Amino acid sequence: MAEQTALSFGGLLRQLRAEAGLTQEELAEAAKLSPRSVSDLERGINRTARRDTAVLLAEALGLAGPVRELFVAAARGRAPAAEALAAVREAAGNVGAAAPRVTSSPYRGLSWFEEQDAALFFGREAATAQVLERMSRRLQGAGLLVVSGVSGAGKSSLLRAGVLPRIRAAGLASAPEAKSWPVLVLTPTRAPLDELALQVALLGGPDAMAVRRWLDADPDGFALTARQAALARLRAPAGEPDGPAAQRDQPPRHCRLLLVVDQFEEVFTQCAEEGQRRAFITALHAAATTGHGPDQAPSALVALAVRADFEARCAEYPQLADAIQDRYLVTAMTERQLRLAITEPARTAGAEVNDDLVNLLLSEMHTGQPGAAGAGVLPLLSHALDQTWRSRTAEVVTVADYERTGGIEGAVASSAQRAYDRLTPAQQSAARQVFTRLTATSSQGMDTADRTTRADLTDSKSPAEAGDVEAVLEAFAAERLLTLAAGTVEISHEVLLTSWPLLRDEWLADTRADRAVRTRLHTTAAEWARHARDPSYLYSGSLLQAAAETAARPVTRRCPRPNATSCTPAAGLSEAGRGGGKPSSRS
Ligand SMILES: Nc1ncnc2c1ncn2[C@@H]1O[C@H](COP(=O)(O)OP(=O)(O)OP(=O)(O)O)[C@@H](O)[C@H]1O
Ligand SMILES: [Mg+2]
Repeated sequence: MAEQTALSFGGLLRQLRAEAGLTQEELAEAAKLSPRSVSDLERGINRTARRDTAVLLAEALGLAGPVRELFVAAARGRAPAAEALAAVREAAGNVGAAAPRVTSSPYRGLSWFEEQDAALFFGREAATAQVLERMSRRLQGAGLLVVSGVSGAGKSSLLRAGVLPRIRAAGLASAPEAKSWPVLVLTPTRAPLDELALQVALLGGPDAMAVRRWLDADPDGFALTARQAALARLRAPAGEPDGPAAQRDQPPRHCRLLLVVDQFEEVFTQCAEEGQRRAFITALHAAATTGHGPDQAPSALVALAVRADFEARCAEYPQLADAIQDRYLVTAMTERQLRLAITEPARTAGAEVNDDLVNLLLSEMHTGQPGAAGAGVLPLLSHALDQTWRSRTAEVVTVADYERTGGIEGAVASSAQRAYDRLTPAQQSAARQVFTRLTATSSQGMDTADRTTRADLTDSKSPAEAGDVEAVLEAFAAERLLTLAAGTVEISHEVLLTSWPLLRDEWLADTRADRAVRTRLHTTAAEWARHARDPSYLYSGSLLQAAAETAARPVTRRCPRPNATSCTPAAGLSEAGRGGGKPSSRS
């Protein structure tokens, strides 16, 4: 297959058009596009196409189902054109016995699902219906919905591949006409106002420079700009991206802009200017709440996807406070839903995941806690499935294929080392502290993944050291190895403790004895707190001395549950040191 990847999308388009016996003009006419846009794509002047353009071209070429999706993905630069060509040939029954089969994976690996991946998106039917229902209700009042969840829970995928396609197909319960509302999906980036201005301009309304100036001068005025952009899109000529005829038939007064801001936490992690952040939030809020037009309805329905650990930051802005209170929380998938997410994409691609592999994957998804797999393991499952699919040798994907990839262990170990290698030396030493603190050790020497508070990791650090810890958290969350929730941090999957050699053979081995003492100390402190701080639960003699020595060493205290600072080992120790029953001032 590798030798075919040199085929460009332009080459693919030219080949398929020639095979269909069409001239550029004929294809353009069938797709309701200009001959120039077909020509520019074929000549590589435009190396990728917008989704809508690609869909029109696919339809004009008679491509349907997964083949169409693959063609669209190739047009957007997200799949090799050679694979799309192979898929078209295979669908046409054109392949010889020795020809390679379609290898485009129906799993998304560590990436989120895009809107065009809807046919491969499973297991989130209930969540999709719930978000749609909330959006529908939001049309009555403030049109602002926050979708939250821990890192990697599946927020972006849910909105992009679950919710948006359903709105485009059937609208909302309280507004069926929403199916033709113009849609904007953006991430804030470092300059959210620039991004917003640019995206709005792309709808065909006012130009980006003007919108950007207005956003600076009067962010509340964005309500009117959004309405203007939505109406401009309604009048977009046929054949232009996102401008199907159906939109032009809608009475404009019902039209709103459907604005999805994904990775909303970027306004805090990437945008460094408070002024720009505030203006962005004000603009979104104004569009979602200020009435315009004959029916005085707000001009936009705004959905924000935000990582749960940024909810509190969002709530500091009065315009977001209500929406945060009433946010939709994306939770872990149940076993039944995970089963669908494993088996159905393969089935859509005409293959099958063997039952033994399904059961193995489901058991490996459990992170040590009882019940369903943690919300943060979904990326690891998705990654393992993608790798396994690519290594399969037949139509049925098996345990042997999975094992050949090194399984979840192999994937986790290599991404952990990759994340670590990219850190600065100071961040690398912060990583050691973070991971040893996130590992509990039983008195029998068993290591288990644990959870701590963000504050616990950064307290008593200088601003530079705290910055290093934050960088470590972001780097490992990006590799899906840490799960960041509201205020807490935890290792996404316990398999990291046994599969990453640096952690297993050096960091944990070096500190095991101390961590066992700390874990025991923590348990004792918790018991002491539970028994009204009865001094008879406190250490004395050699136990106290050993614990005091351990506590003095650099791997500092851990707190396995948020807000449990009053029962830290240190608190217990200081009580014990004084031999009294008074609450400790240290925590
Ligand atoms: N329904 C699903 N079936 C299978 N895999 C899924 C599903 N939903 C999401 N995933 C996978 O889970 C991972 C996380 O998805 P996504 O990026 O949508 O989550 P997120 O909550 O937006 O993450 P982040 O907090 O980083 O923004 C990705 O690898 C994605 O492919
Ligand atoms: Mg996301």
